[in-house]
Amino acid sequence: MNVSLLHKNAVVTGGTRGIGFAIAEALLQAGASVAICGRSESDVDRAVKELAPFASQGNKVVGRPADVTRREQVSEFFQFVDASLDHLDILINNAGVGVFANIAELTPEQWKQVIDTNLNGVYFCSREAIPRFRNRGGGFIINISSLAGKNAFSGGTAYNASKFALNGFSEAMMLDVRYDNIRVSTIMPGSVATNFGSGGAADWKIAPEDIADVVLMVLSMPERTLISSVEIRPSKPKK
Ligand SMILES: NC(=O)c1ccc[n+]([C@@H]2O[C@H](COP(=O)([O-])OP(=O)(O)OC[C@H]3O[C@@H](n4cnc5c(N)ncnc54)[C@H](OP(=O)(O)O)[C@@H]3O)[C@@H](O)[C@H]2O)c1
Repeated sequence: MNVSLLHKNAVVTGGTRGIGFAIAEALLQAGASVAICGRSESDVDRAVKELAPFASQGNKVVGRPADVTRREQVSEFFQFVDASLDHLDILINNAGVGVFANIAELTPEQWKQVIDTNLNGVYFCSREAIPRFRNRGGGFIINISSLAGKNAFSGGTAYNASKFALNGFSEAMMLDVRYDNIRVSTIMPGSVATNFGSGGAADWKIAPEDIADVVLMVLSMPERTLISSVEIRPSKPKK
């Protein structure tokens, strides 16, 4: 997609693989500088090395391990972003986990991990980004939710709850910050070909690059217009 994001700076949480990596790659190709995080230091280092060739317009990619479920780590990560990227224009809340189990087998630890990552992590990162955006005069938050935030399925209690809640959170946040020139958008993909949960690649699934294209499309809208939510699904899912 032919979009210029030169001189824009973005955070992509969970940018070490899958959808987050593809979004980071697309933002870099559009000229933005990007900061990524993930829990694993070696994965962050590897991803930064793999992403660096896509920053060829005077922009750059940086990364640091941070667990979005830990408020102090999120705060330290954003201080690292301040020091590395000068200012912040875009936050992509992408980090997420999928634990799928019948409610009878789902453990409290699994429940907590899913809600902490997919919901509380988004809150922690957004509350870091919003004051920075307000100081700068605006910004963009894109939350990677899921069609599982609209359609419940057996085995999805924790995941469905986290993404249904994320959709409500996103919409309310959008209304809270719209007059600060901060636009909030929610992207809800169906099955994407990543190693998320027990998933994996398959021809019929959405490619991570397709989600990255949607992110660029959302970011390319003129300031007067907000694509507030997008549903994206495989055209021909497995029967
Ligand atoms: N794949 C799908 O079918 C699908 C469909 C709809 C929506 N989604 C959503 O898309 C997002 C990305 O999914 P994906 O398919 O790309 O998954 P993935 O390939 O498993 O990647 C997840 C990313 O999030 C990071 N992460 C997980 N927990 C984290 C934490 N506590 N703190 C910081 N980073 C964390 C992972 O790094 P570490 O493990 O090293 O922390 C990794 O970089 C998720 O929010 C997911 O719910 C996925």
